[in-house]
Amino acid sequence: MSAFADEAIKVSEKSLTAGALPPVRIGICGLGTVGSGTVNVMARNCDEIAARCGRRIDIVQIGARRDNPNCDTSHLNVTREIFDVANNPDVDVVVELIGGTTVARELVLTAIANGKHVVTANKALIAEHGNELFAAAAEQGVTIAYEAAVAGGIPIIKSLREGLVGNRIQWLAGIINGTGNYILTEMREKGRSFAEALSQAQALGYAEADPTFDVEGIDAAHKLVIMASLAFGMPLAFDKVYTEGISGVAREDIQYADELGYRIKHLGIARRTEDGVELRVHPTLIPQRRLIANVNGVMNAVLVSGDAVGPTLYYGAGAGAEATASAVIADIVDVARTLNVRPDQRVPLAGVTQDSQGNLDDVLPMGDTVTSYYMRIFAHDKPGVMSQVAKICSDQGISIEALIQHEPAEDEELVPVVLLTSRARESQLQEAVNQIEALSTIQAPVVRIRVESLG
Ligand code: HSE
Repeated sequence: MSAFADEAIKVSEKSLTAGALPPVRIGICGLGTVGSGTVNVMARNCDEIAARCGRRIDIVQIGARRDNPNCDTSHLNVTREIFDVANNPDVDVVVELIGGTTVARELVLTAIANGKHVVTANKALIAEHGNELFAAAAEQGVTIAYEAAVAGGIPIIKSLREGLVGNRIQWLAGIINGTGNYILTEMREKGRSFAEALSQAQALGYAEADPTFDVEGIDAAHKLVIMASLAFGMPLAFDKVYTEGISGVAREDIQYADELGYRIKHLGIARRTEDGVELRVHPTLIPQRRLIANVNGVMNAVLVSGDAVGPTLYYGAGAGAEATASAVIADIVDVARTLNVRPDQRVPLAGVTQDSQGNLDDVLPMGDTVTSYYMRIFAHDKPGVMSQVAKICSDQGISIEALIQHEPAEDEELVPVVLLTSRARESQLQEAVNQIEALSTIQAPVVRIRVESLG
């Protein structure tokens, strides 16, 4: 045992009174970034953690295919067989930090079948298999906790299921992918193209070599459905999220947005409407004056609006070894606290239908969504073009709220015309875009980005 860990455990033992509850025995699967961060933070802060929890938390086993030089496990029982942890009779709580959805699903189901509680940081696993896993956990009377799956260190899951429990949640909107936010921030602040900003994100280790999950919105969609299931008491509906990434966002759109008083952010939005729940991930213009519009770099933020509390904002690091470990440990402590509570009296973890108002099982088709739009149209600089565009919009019941057209450069035939529209149904806007793109005076495609006031 390292001198540091030894000392830490002694302190924690001293701080707990005799006759205290026995330690909670955890097994950690995966020793990557989050796993090593969790081991390190648990060793460093074990005194405070034990005091707050009312009992010590012992790592009785770690399952990892390889060691991680970023953490010292010399004093711990490490196995290369991850399933040993899920089958270990001395483990009360399995902490799944291996990622992926195939082995991780099997591992979690094994742990549940063995009557163990589960803590996971795996958003894809919860978003795609959560309904199955929660049903299995309910059957066994065990808990699955997943604070670290959404927005890293921000305690948004606890906020939704505990802090805001008295509210009817109306909507939430979040910057829930740090890589995407970093890229958009670089594009705005340094005038970089998407490709340049992505390379920079890769060089700094924010973006993977294959950045698809981050830049095409899949990672954000995973996180969004998890939050929506808690906010609205609906099943996890990952396959119903409308998902659009940031790879099509151009530098000039960020500049025009600035000129109009907006920032472009990649948002995950969930909103309760009378006809169903909106679940959508896409680049969005939001007013510069909103706090969330000023969340930059890799930071995450989530706005949640409840009927009693009004809008609330949660901000912090959405990734990173120790920020995510902070959420993992919060869940371990949460699970430890509920061990003596009957399963039906624990804080519900997901999918509890709150009421029968609104079709909470129904995800609204994207075509029925109502928002304002930013449009950038490449038009020939000829008389009558704007009136054609305005007529098409007005025929679809869409009014033009703002317009930018700069003088064309001398040798340019095409000029960009930028419009902000009134709120309109997506299907009508799409029809207008189709008609505008068919005009001979326009060069397709029309760039279209949704606008949200978030007020
Ligand atoms: N890849 C994620 C992001 C972090 O960039 O926000 C983990 O969820």
